[in-house]
Amino acid sequence: MRLILVGPPGAGKGTQAVHLASHFGIPHISTGDIFRANLKEGTPLGIQAKSYMDKGELVPDSVTNAMVKDRLASAEGFLLDGFPRNVAQAEVLRAILAEKKTPIDAALELSIENAEIIKRLSGRRTCRSCGKIFPGQIDKCDACGGELYQRDDDKEDVIARRLEVYAEQTSPIISFYRHEGLLITIPAVGDVADITAGAIRALSQKLS
Ligand code: AP5
Repeated sequence: MRLILVGPPGAGKGTQAVHLASHFGIPHISTGDIFRANLKEGTPLGIQAKSYMDKGELVPDSVTNAMVKDRLASAEGFLLDGFPRNVAQAEVLRAILAEKKTPIDAALELSIENAEIIKRLSGRRTCRSCGKIFPGQIDKCDACGGELYQRDDDKEDVIARRLEVYAEQTSPIISFYRHEGLLITIPAVGDVADITAGAIRALSQKLS
Protein backbone atom coordinates (compact mmCIF):
# COMPACT_ATOMS: atom_id res chain seq x y z
CA MET A 1 0.00 0.00 0.00
CA ARG A 2 1.21 3.51 -0.85
CA LEU A 3 -0.31 6.29 1.22
CA ILE A 4 0.18 10.01 1.69
CA LEU A 5 -0.76 11.77 4.91
CA VAL A 6 -1.78 15.40 4.42
CA GLY A 7 -2.63 18.01 7.02
CA PRO A 8 -1.45 21.17 8.73
CA PRO A 9 1.33 21.23 11.32
CA GLY A 10 0.06 19.62 14.51
CA ALA A 11 -2.84 17.79 12.85
CA GLY A 12 -1.43 14.55 14.26
CA LYS A 13 0.27 13.20 11.12
CA GLY A 14 3.26 11.82 13.04
CA THR A 15 1.04 10.39 15.79
CA GLN A 16 -1.34 8.67 13.35
CA ALA A 17 1.44 7.58 10.99
CA VAL A 18 2.98 5.32 13.64
CA HIS A 19 -0.32 3.44 14.13
CA LEU A 20 -1.31 3.34 10.45
CA ALA A 21 2.13 2.19 9.27
CA SER A 22 2.08 -0.57 11.86
CA HIS A 23 -1.49 -1.62 10.94
CA PHE A 24 -0.77 -1.76 7.20
CA GLY A 25 2.79 -3.12 7.60
CA ILE A 26 4.44 -0.32 5.62
CA PRO A 27 7.36 1.99 6.46
CA HIS A 28 6.61 5.46 7.83
CA ILE A 29 8.64 7.99 5.86
CA SER A 30 8.59 11.48 7.38
CA THR A 31 10.59 14.19 5.63
CA GLY A 32 10.59 16.27 8.83
CA ASP A 33 12.03 13.29 10.78
CA ILE A 34 14.70 12.73 8.10
CA PHE A 35 15.73 16.41 8.30
CA ARG A 36 15.79 16.29 12.13
CA ALA A 37 17.86 13.04 12.11
CA ASN A 38 20.34 14.70 9.74
CA LEU A 39 20.49 17.73 11.99
CA LYS A 40 21.20 15.53 15.01
CA GLU A 41 24.05 13.89 13.07
CA GLY A 42 25.33 17.31 11.96
CA THR A 43 25.26 16.41 8.24
CA PRO A 44 25.38 19.16 5.56
CA LEU A 45 21.75 18.28 4.69
CA GLY A 46 20.66 18.77 8.30
CA ILE A 47 22.53 22.06 8.65
CA GLN A 48 21.04 23.34 5.39
CA ALA A 49 17.51 22.28 6.38
CA LYS A 50 17.73 23.85 9.86
CA SER A 51 17.90 27.41 8.55
CA TYR A 52 14.53 26.92 6.81
CA MET A 53 12.87 24.80 9.51
CA ASP A 54 13.69 27.28 12.28
CA LYS A 55 11.84 30.00 10.36
CA GLY A 56 8.88 27.77 9.50
CA GLU A 57 9.71 27.90 5.79
CA LEU A 58 9.85 24.94 3.41
CA VAL A 59 13.26 23.47 2.62
CA PRO A 60 13.91 24.07 -1.12
CA ASP A 61 12.31 21.51 -3.46
CA SER A 62 15.66 20.67 -5.08
CA VAL A 63 16.94 19.35 -1.73
CA THR A 64 13.73 17.65 -0.60
CA ASN A 65 12.82 15.99 -3.90
CA ALA A 66 16.25 14.39 -4.32
CA MET A 67 16.12 13.08 -0.74
CA VAL A 68 12.64 11.56 -1.22
CA LYS A 69 13.53 10.04 -4.59
CA ASP A 70 16.49 8.34 -3.00
CA ARG A 71 14.41 7.07 -0.04
CA LEU A 72 11.65 5.71 -2.29
CA ALA A 73 14.04 3.90 -4.65
CA SER A 74 13.89 0.73 -2.55
CA ALA A 75 10.39 1.15 -1.04
CA GLU A 76 7.48 -0.94 -2.33
CA GLY A 77 4.82 0.28 0.08
CA PHE A 78 5.04 3.38 2.27
CA LEU A 79 3.24 5.97 4.32
CA LEU A 80 4.58 9.40 3.37
CA ASP A 81 4.23 12.03 6.12
CA GLY A 82 5.15 15.64 5.28
CA PHE A 83 5.70 15.09 1.58
CA PRO A 84 4.48 16.39 -0.81
CA ARG A 85 4.16 19.89 0.61
CA ASN A 86 3.34 21.82 -2.54
CA VAL A 87 1.94 21.03 -5.97
CA ALA A 88 5.42 20.94 -7.56
CA GLN A 89 6.45 18.21 -5.09
CA ALA A 90 3.20 16.33 -5.78
CA GLU A 91 4.02 16.37 -9.48
CA VAL A 92 7.56 15.14 -8.85
CA LEU A 93 6.20 12.33 -6.66
CA ARG A 94 3.71 11.33 -9.37
CA ALA A 95 6.57 11.17 -11.91
CA ILE A 96 8.85 9.13 -9.59
CA LEU A 97 6.07 6.61 -8.97
CA ALA A 98 4.96 6.51 -12.63
CA GLU A 99 8.50 5.50 -13.56
CA LYS A 100 8.27 2.61 -11.05
CA LYS A 101 4.65 1.85 -12.12
CA THR A 102 3.62 2.06 -8.44
CA PRO A 103 1.06 4.88 -8.11
CA ILE A 104 -0.38 6.23 -4.85
CA ASP A 105 -3.42 4.36 -3.50
CA ALA A 106 -4.84 7.20 -1.39
CA ALA A 107 -4.11 10.59 0.17
CA LEU A 108 -5.52 10.85 3.71
CA GLU A 109 -6.23 14.40 4.89
CA LEU A 110 -6.41 15.11 8.64
CA SER A 111 -8.78 18.03 9.14
CA ILE A 112 -8.44 20.33 12.18
CA GLU A 113 -8.97 23.98 13.25
CA ASN A 114 -6.03 26.37 13.85
CA ALA A 115 -6.97 27.00 17.52
CA GLU A 116 -6.54 23.30 18.35
CA ILE A 117 -3.26 23.18 16.39
CA ILE A 118 -1.73 26.04 18.40
CA LYS A 119 -2.74 24.37 21.67
CA ARG A 120 -1.21 21.06 20.58
CA LEU A 121 2.06 22.41 19.19
CA SER A 122 2.84 24.61 22.14
CA GLY A 123 2.45 21.57 24.43
CA ARG A 124 4.22 18.99 22.26
CA ARG A 125 7.35 17.25 23.55
CA THR A 126 9.50 14.85 21.50
CA CYS A 127 11.97 12.19 22.67
CA ARG A 128 15.54 13.11 21.78
CA SER A 129 16.50 9.42 21.48
CA CYS A 130 13.66 7.60 19.72
CA GLY A 131 11.55 10.50 18.37
CA LYS A 132 8.31 9.43 20.12
CA ILE A 133 5.81 12.32 20.32
CA PHE A 134 3.98 13.32 23.54
CA PRO A 135 1.06 15.74 24.02
CA GLY A 136 2.51 17.38 27.12
CA GLN A 137 5.36 17.73 29.49
CA ILE A 138 6.26 14.48 31.24
CA ASP A 139 9.55 13.50 32.86
CA LYS A 140 10.98 11.15 30.26
CA CYS A 141 10.06 9.01 27.28
CA ASP A 142 7.89 6.03 28.28
CA ALA A 143 9.28 3.97 25.38
CA CYS A 144 13.05 4.34 25.83
CA GLY A 145 13.60 6.56 28.88
CA GLY A 146 15.11 9.29 26.67
CA GLU A 147 15.08 13.01 27.43
CA LEU A 148 12.16 15.03 26.05
CA TYR A 149 12.60 18.38 24.28
CA GLN A 150 10.52 21.08 22.64
CA ARG A 151 11.12 21.49 18.90
CA ASP A 152 12.66 24.85 17.91
CA ASP A 153 9.88 25.35 15.37
CA ASP A 154 7.19 24.99 18.04
CA LYS A 155 7.69 28.60 19.23
CA GLU A 156 4.63 30.82 18.83
CA ASP A 157 5.94 33.03 15.98
CA VAL A 158 7.27 30.02 14.03
CA ILE A 159 3.98 28.12 14.47
CA ALA A 160 2.16 31.14 13.01
CA ARG A 161 4.48 31.16 9.97
CA ARG A 162 4.11 27.37 9.49
CA LEU A 163 0.32 27.80 9.42
CA GLU A 164 0.67 30.54 6.76
CA VAL A 165 2.99 28.36 4.70
CA TYR A 166 0.50 25.49 4.96
CA ALA A 167 -2.40 27.69 3.79
CA GLU A 168 -0.45 29.29 0.94
CA GLN A 169 1.78 26.50 -0.35
CA THR A 170 0.59 23.11 0.95
CA SER A 171 -3.21 23.26 1.02
CA PRO A 172 -3.45 23.36 -2.83
CA ILE A 173 -2.36 19.70 -2.84
CA ILE A 174 -5.77 18.86 -1.34
CA SER A 175 -7.43 19.87 -4.64
CA PHE A 176 -4.64 18.12 -6.56
CA TYR A 177 -5.44 14.77 -4.90
CA ARG A 178 -9.20 15.36 -4.98
CA HIS A 179 -8.92 15.88 -8.73
CA GLU A 180 -6.93 12.62 -8.98
CA GLY A 181 -9.76 10.81 -7.13
CA LEU A 182 -7.40 9.84 -4.30
CA LEU A 183 -8.47 12.13 -1.44
CA ILE A 184 -10.04 10.93 1.82
CA THR A 185 -10.71 13.52 4.54
CA ILE A 186 -11.28 12.62 8.19
CA PRO A 187 -11.68 14.81 11.30
CA ALA A 188 -8.48 14.76 13.37
CA VAL A 189 -9.91 15.81 16.74
CA GLY A 190 -10.78 13.47 19.61
CA ASP A 191 -9.26 10.30 20.94
CA VAL A 192 -6.10 9.19 19.05
CA ALA A 193 -7.29 5.56 18.85
CA ASP A 194 -10.72 6.63 17.51
CA ILE A 195 -9.05 8.72 14.80
CA THR A 196 -6.82 5.77 13.83
CA ALA A 197 -9.87 3.47 13.66
CA GLY A 198 -11.74 6.01 11.50
CA ALA A 199 -8.74 6.31 9.17
CA ILE A 200 -8.40 2.53 8.81
CA ARG A 201 -12.15 2.23 8.09
CA ALA A 202 -12.06 5.00 5.47
CA LEU A 203 -8.91 3.64 3.80
CA SER A 204 -10.21 0.07 3.74
CA GLN A 205 -13.48 1.26 2.15
CA LYS A 206 -11.62 3.29 -0.46
CA LEU A 207 -9.30 0.42 -1.38
CA SER A 208 -11.94 -2.36 -1.45
P1 AP5 B 1 7.32 18.26 9.85
O1 AP5 B 1 8.14 17.58 10.83
O2 AP5 B 1 6.70 17.47 8.74
O3 AP5 B 1 6.25 19.10 10.65
P2 AP5 B 1 4.71 19.50 10.34
O4 AP5 B 1 4.11 19.06 9.07
O5 AP5 B 1 4.70 20.95 10.62
O6 AP5 B 1 3.95 18.62 11.29
P3 AP5 B 1 4.23 18.40 12.79
O7 AP5 B 1 5.31 17.38 12.97
O8 AP5 B 1 4.42 19.72 13.51
O9 AP5 B 1 2.83 17.89 13.30
P4 AP5 B 1 2.06 16.51 13.07
O10 AP5 B 1 0.92 16.72 12.15
O11 AP5 B 1 3.02 15.39 12.75
O12 AP5 B 1 1.46 16.33 14.51
P5 AP5 B 1 1.92 15.39 15.75
O13 AP5 B 1 1.51 13.98 15.52
O14 AP5 B 1 3.34 15.66 16.11
O15 AP5 B 1 8.14 19.44 9.12
C1 AP5 B 1 8.95 20.31 9.87
C2 AP5 B 1 9.69 21.22 8.90
O16 AP5 B 1 10.55 20.44 8.03
C3 AP5 B 1 8.82 22.05 7.95
O17 AP5 B 1 8.35 23.25 8.54
C4 AP5 B 1 9.81 22.32 6.80
O18 AP5 B 1 10.73 23.34 7.14
C5 AP5 B 1 10.60 21.00 6.73
N1 AP5 B 1 9.97 20.05 5.79
C6 AP5 B 1 9.43 18.83 6.08
N2 AP5 B 1 8.96 18.26 4.97
C7 AP5 B 1 9.20 19.11 3.95
C8 AP5 B 1 8.91 19.08 2.55
N3 AP5 B 1 8.26 18.05 1.99
N4 AP5 B 1 9.30 20.14 1.79
C9 AP5 B 1 9.96 21.19 2.33
N5 AP5 B 1 10.24 21.28 3.67
C10 AP5 B 1 9.86 20.25 4.46
O19 AP5 B 1 0.96 15.98 16.88
C11 AP5 B 1 1.14 17.28 17.39
C12 AP5 B 1 0.88 17.29 18.91
O20 AP5 B 1 -0.50 16.99 19.11
C13 AP5 B 1 1.67 16.23 19.69
O21 AP5 B 1 2.01 16.73 20.95
C14 AP5 B 1 0.68 15.06 19.83
O22 AP5 B 1 0.95 14.26 20.95
C15 AP5 B 1 -0.64 15.81 19.94
N6 AP5 B 1 -1.78 15.06 19.38
C16 AP5 B 1 -1.80 14.27 18.27
N7 AP5 B 1 -3.03 13.77 18.06
C17 AP5 B 1 -3.81 14.28 19.07
C18 AP5 B 1 -5.20 14.14 19.40
N8 AP5 B 1 -6.02 13.38 18.68
N9 AP5 B 1 -5.66 14.83 20.47
C19 AP5 B 1 -4.82 15.61 21.22
N10 AP5 B 1 -3.49 15.76 20.96
C20 AP5 B 1 -3.01 15.11 19.90
